[in-house]
Amino acid sequence: MNLKKVCIVGLGYVGLPLACLCAEKGYLTIGYDINANLISDLKKGITILEDAELKVKIQNLAEKIIYSQDPEIIHTADIVIICVPTPITSDHKPNLDPLINAVNTIKSNLKTGALVVLESTIFPGTTEDIILPLFDNLICGEDYFLAHCPERIDPGNLKWNVSNIPRVVGGVSEICTTHAFNFYNSIIDAEILKLNSVKAVEATKVMENSFRDINIAFMNELAMSFEKMGIDITEVIKAASTKPFSFMPHWPGCGVGGHCIPVDPYYLIEKAKQSGFEHKFLKLARQINNSMPNYTVQKVVDGLNEIGKSVKGSKVTILGLAYKPDVSDIRESPSFKIIELLKKKGANLIIYDPFVLDHSNVLTLDEALHCDCVVLVTSHSQFKTISSDLLKQKDVRVLIDGRNFFNGKEIIDQGIVYKGIGK
Ligand SMILES: NC(=O)c1ccc[n+]([C@@H]2O[C@H](COP(=O)([O-])OP(=O)(O)OC[C@H]3O[C@@H](n4cnc5c(N)ncnc54)[C@H](O)[C@@H]3O)[C@@H](O)[C@H]2O)c1
Repeated sequence: MNLKKVCIVGLGYVGLPLACLCAEKGYLTIGYDINANLISDLKKGITILEDAELKVKIQNLAEKIIYSQDPEIIHTADIVIICVPTPITSDHKPNLDPLINAVNTIKSNLKTGALVVLESTIFPGTTEDIILPLFDNLICGEDYFLAHCPERIDPGNLKWNVSNIPRVVGGVSEICTTHAFNFYNSIIDAEILKLNSVKAVEATKVMENSFRDINIAFMNELAMSFEKMGIDITEVIKAASTKPFSFMPHWPGCGVGGHCIPVDPYYLIEKAKQSGFEHKFLKLARQINNSMPNYTVQKVVDGLNEIGKSVKGSKVTILGLAYKPDVSDIRESPSFKIIELLKKKGANLIIYDPFVLDHSNVLTLDEALHCDCVVLVTSHSQFKTISSDLLKQKDVRVLIDGRNFFNGKEIIDQGIVYKGIGK
């Protein structure tokens, strides 16, 4: 195949860096998305993603990437990469609607002989049992080629990016695998591992993210257990991390957010259930991690009680709406659950996130610290400027540290009530 033109379908956290990489590697690149505002911004060289390097690339590559909302443009591409969301429904079931819609659009506009790769996270069996049949009258391996290569990008990670993270790839037949392997090998400076089945590729991705969810849940459970015994979880994790093998640190916190970790385990749970297997371990991990906002709110109740106040009527500040530091992504963020619970209890809420000002109700950290109690939910770099002296000066009486981010002793020494996760 003479693969020269690539079309990225879905230009979010995954698709946009990939489009830039393809353009940098010399492919004629098309970025297709159904979001008209996003396309219009990209045409002007603007992205709302807060990745500084990506912003520069979008501008520098303005002439090299064609952005479009017209599905017919897909017809010109030799390679079509699908990077659309794969969320869950309110009852925690996989929602494949965006993916199925994207595939239906692609199918109607596909060039003969094109390679179609799914990068979106999917449960084992999705490619062969759900996506392949959507191409109904087209013959896979002749009219088109179909493969899966899950994205592993970690937005905000300065060391590991789309170009240097190793990948796993698998197609619905050997020829599909080969075409996908050759494409990724041409753009990525890291190992591309071919697996024997698409199912194994799909399973690799959901296993990776479930591994993380389970380990975080374990640390959350240990934090709550150690708290009862007066043991500092942070000290213990750091100590265990000195073991040079067989231990990998994970950290407890006020909740797990983002489009991957709190979502992907449900994909596996549901698929296994349909196949006749009940995942007890994964479900328990989800349950523990989902309970952390409640645990955190209980800390607020206890902290305010210690200074003779109730939550009702107290000024409580939420610092951070994004699910992780220094990004604006609020998907599945535990902040919203914490806010909901505190609202129910009658707190007067001040909400501040320097990356998410449109959901904040104050615009500066200075304004945010005019309160009785601060709840740190996201450890944005800006919050490092909050010293114990500053809290004292602002007359903050209680600090709930949802990420064990602060030096608790310094805060307590100022006469401020300090409570962390497991502390
Ligand atoms: N965000 C991450 O850190 C990350 C990391 C690895 C894998 N993933 C996986 O990658 C996939 C994409 O995630 P994301 O974070 O980039 O999502 P996103 O929401 O940031 O971007 C998805 C884009 O797809 C567009 N879209 C939706 N339906 C479409 C359609 N039918 N046709 C064309 N465009 C469409 C949306 O408008 C949006 O711009 C998901 O499956 C996710 O689980 C995400």
